[in-house]
Amino acid sequence: MVIVLNRVSKSYGDRKVLQDVQFQLQSNEFAFLKGKSGSGKSTLIKLLYREIERDSGDILIDGQEIGQMKKYELRRKMGVVFQSFELLERKTVLENVMLAGKILGKPQKEIDNEAVRLLTRVGLADHLHHFPKQLSGGQQQRTAVARALLNKPKLILADEPTGNLDRETSLEILTLLKELHEEEGVSMLVITHSEQLIQQMNEKSWVIEGGKVYEL
Ligand SMILES: Nc1ncnc2c1ncn2[C@@H]1O[C@H](COP(=O)(O)OP(=O)(O)OP(=O)(O)O)[C@@H](O)[C@H]1O
Ligand SMILES: [Mg+2]
Repeated sequence: MVIVLNRVSKSYGDRKVLQDVQFQLQSNEFAFLKGKSGSGKSTLIKLLYREIERDSGDILIDGQEIGQMKKYELRRKMGVVFQSFELLERKTVLENVMLAGKILGKPQKEIDNEAVRLLTRVGLADHLHHFPKQLSGGQQQRTAVARALLNKPKLILADEPTGNLDRETSLEILTLLKELHEEEGVSMLVITHSEQLIQQMNEKSWVIEGGKVYEL
């Protein structure tokens, strides 16, 4: 298992968002997570990379309780992709991706080669020295996907990666994620609102409803 949640609860003040949640993602699995706006999807993802802390329950990533790991150890096991791309505006595409490798203290040449390999794979070989503003939304998200993969994570968490994209581009990004999941051997948990996209992708999904997570 790459993710295990056992009886996880989280409230904001007296707003109970997750209650005794059980959830698992197998190693090398691809799954969607859906649910109404405000149901707790982003809360679940934020608990996984410890942007916020649970109130109770166990969370294991790759077999280890995340409360017992240093945050940087936890975060290098995972890559995250957001709706708003979160690219640095003053850095080029290549720099945005390479910067994700700096914290690990790898040789620059190795980081550089891996960044170019991934950017070529996501179709941006001709845009390495462009700035985010010079790219379409889909190209910005491809950059973010390459960045998320740079450190060879076990797991990619994607919170509405297609939320700012039109339908065709959304399908393109999800197809790319699915292919990379297979090629790079990385587990993925992808949040999306779009039932239609989930059906088109024909993948396993989970839903959050009433504070619980159910397998569909
Ligand atoms: N920092 C916070 N403080 C207080 N309440 C919060 C906080 N973050 C989220 N909430 C509340 O918790 C609930 C779940 O929020 P969350 O962001 O997890 O929902 P979501 O399923 O990701 O929704 P969306 O689909 O709109 O992104 C919402 O009612 C939200 O208002
Ligand atoms: Mg959300």
